Amino acid sequence: MTRIYLLLILILTSCFQKIEKKEIANIIPNPQNIIYKTGSFNLNSDTGINYDSLFLSEAKYLQNQLPFKLNGNKNSIILKKNINLLEEEYFLYISKKNIIIEAATGKGQMHGIQSLIQLLPNKYKELKDIVTPCVEIHDFPRFKWRGMLLDCCRHFMDKEFIKRYIDLLAYHKMNILHLHLTEDQGWRVEIEKYPKLTEIGAWRNNKNGEKYGGFYTKKDLIEIIKYAQIRHVEIIPEIELPGHSVAAIASYPQLSCTGKSIEVENDWGVFKDIYCAGNDSVYTFLENVLTEVIEIFPSKYIHIGGDEAPKFRWKECVKCQQKIQSQNLKDEHELQSYFIKRIEKFIESKGKKIIGWDEIIEGGIAPSATIQSWRGMEGGVIAAQNNHEAIMSPTSHCYFDYDLEAIDLKKVYSFEPIPKGLTNEQSKYIIGGECNMWSEHAPQETIDSKVFPRILAISEVLWSKKEKNFNEFKKRVDKHYKKLDVLGVKYGYEKTPIKINSTVLNHQFQIEIEKGDNDMDIEYSLNNGLWEKYTNAFLIDTSVIINVKEVNSKRKFPAKKSLTLNHHLALGKKTKYLTNFDKNYPGQGSLTNGVSGNNTNFRDGQWQGFFGKDVEVIIDLEEETTFSKVQTSFFQYHLSWIIIPQKVEILTSKNGEEFKKIQTINHKSDPMKEGKFIKDFIFTQKQKTRFIKIIAKTYGNLPMEHPAAGSKSWTFIDQIIIE
Ligand code: ACM
Ligand code: ZN
Repeated sequence: MTRIYLLLILILTSCFQKIEKKEIANIIPNPQNIIYKTGSFNLNSDTGINYDSLFLSEAKYLQNQLPFKLNGNKNSIILKKNINLLEEEYFLYISKKNIIIEAATGKGQMHGIQSLIQLLPNKYKELKDIVTPCVEIHDFPRFKWRGMLLDCCRHFMDKEFIKRYIDLLAYHKMNILHLHLTEDQGWRVEIEKYPKLTEIGAWRNNKNGEKYGGFYTKKDLIEIIKYAQIRHVEIIPEIELPGHSVAAIASYPQLSCTGKSIEVENDWGVFKDIYCAGNDSVYTFLENVLTEVIEIFPSKYIHIGGDEAPKFRWKECVKCQQKIQSQNLKDEHELQSYFIKRIEKFIESKGKKIIGWDEIIEGGIAPSATIQSWRGMEGGVIAAQNNHEAIMSPTSHCYFDYDLEAIDLKKVYSFEPIPKGLTNEQSKYIIGGECNMWSEHAPQETIDSKVFPRILAISEVLWSKKEKNFNEFKKRVDKHYKKLDVLGVKYGYEKTPIKINSTVLNHQFQIEIEKGDNDMDIEYSLNNGLWEKYTNAFLIDTSVIINVKEVNSKRKFPAKKSLTLNHHLALGKKTKYLTNFDKNYPGQGSLTNGVSGNNTNFRDGQWQGFFGKDVEVIIDLEEETTFSKVQTSFFQYHLSWIIIPQKVEILTSKNGEEFKKIQTINHKSDPMKEGKFIKDFIFTQKQKTRFIKIIAKTYGNLPMEHPAAGSKSWTFIDQIIIE
């Protein structure tokens, strides 16, 4: 062979090797170390398995994953014990000769098996001869707590669905399934001593008249737990107290401060009827419930909730006030702390530890509680500074019920569970994190589309090295979808799939539709007319409803979006704010951009929120203009403390200095009126002027009967339309 040929062969083989390397580097979460080898191993019916007796269960699991029996050469797959490794650490060696997985425990062994499975071809279950590339992987997790919360209360999730999620968690090396089992809207765990909890508490009358609910029997739960144990996923039960307890109180009204009978809640939010903290029989009830829960769930930790417990009833309750006196407590926050500490003591007497949401810090943290930080990272910081374990699940990155506009794949991937400012010693108390799948707006069949692909990012945040590269991750995600397809995962989008951007240019709307993914096909229609393919930005000079949808989608829930635009005299005109809107609800910083807020979603980015103050704005029409109508809208959702104003005034001025009131509209606001709705305020009076001032009076403090009694309220305002 000539030298030139040799060189060519060398170049070609090195190219092929490079391609091969790229092809195989596809495990999520990314392993700590991978060394690529040349060649491959063939798994087929000639393959046999040899395992240390410690790994009997894992060997069976692996066998069950494969499409043929492992009855061949016993030394081709070896599950080996290596006591020098950490609990979840493993080595996976795939050579041309055999596959060896070394681990100290079943957990480590299971992780090795999952990496092996992810290395197999996507459709390996259809093959008789599976080719797997040769690699050496050394792997272990960054954090020991890698969790997901499933809220099976707001929407019930059936047993098979939960098992499927256990599989999906194990596949991505997530090791905690936090089951939120009790809520205002439903009690989901059978308790023998209190049968009404599931006879009454598991069922609600939905607003559409349907009876909705369900629960898990002890037998169901034991089956789920066994299933999880085989896959080394631990189930943590959450029994909420003292708040979020309406379903329990609906079952046994004597548990509340008033003793009055109430119904299982059918709305979302925070409710004022909570367990009475002054009544010792409430503690007896909870201890009996927890005793049965502890009998079912073998986990070391029991989650006791502790979030969002309004103190309104306790303030009014003779028994609660007596308890505050007799225990020398300062206030209702200390009463909550007393409540939690008393429950903690009981749980510890059973050899278990408690986890609580970060509110349990207020009024004094229970001596050995683990804190789950959700209102930001602060709860976790305080916990760690005080030598308490913390689990990080801030709403900013970990709430998978939130829209992609707020939390997309990249944002989740950027999550760093260890907050800045902790010492190395304190950082050790951050044991990991959880993604939370609250289900108010997510029935079971939509959960996949919210959890995936975002959970891929959290799995990597919690398992892999701190130093990560989103673009590299994204390449693996792209390939991972094929595996998810085989697993039947109905994943959603990585980022907002459709954004309709409207800009006002020379008193016209310039409409641009932004796609979340270049491969998407988008169509739009104007005023419910014909659908057209979208290609380029366009201009519109009238009021219009724009509907946009994805066509030819492979998603179960293809994206769609609509936007209502109002073309009016004040479009694009300057607004001067005499009071400031809240920075979390800026509504694009404009009340004259022509875009209407959504009828049911005050978080759509268009509504502007003012907390505890009047809305006072001046619109400058730039020249004296004749108009006969001014319209503005306000949102109400009393469970988010957003109340329609009781009075809105309109004033006008020719010079922007002296204003004259031209009309006042009074409104009888009801701060307890349920649901999400809008109220339009319409002023009609022909005028010629330049400046228009709108003053919307805040409702003020929430009344006694409101769950957040005494707190300031929000005012949410939309477009100011002038015609
Ligand atoms: C929570 O989201 N209320 C813990
Ligand atoms: Zn009470």
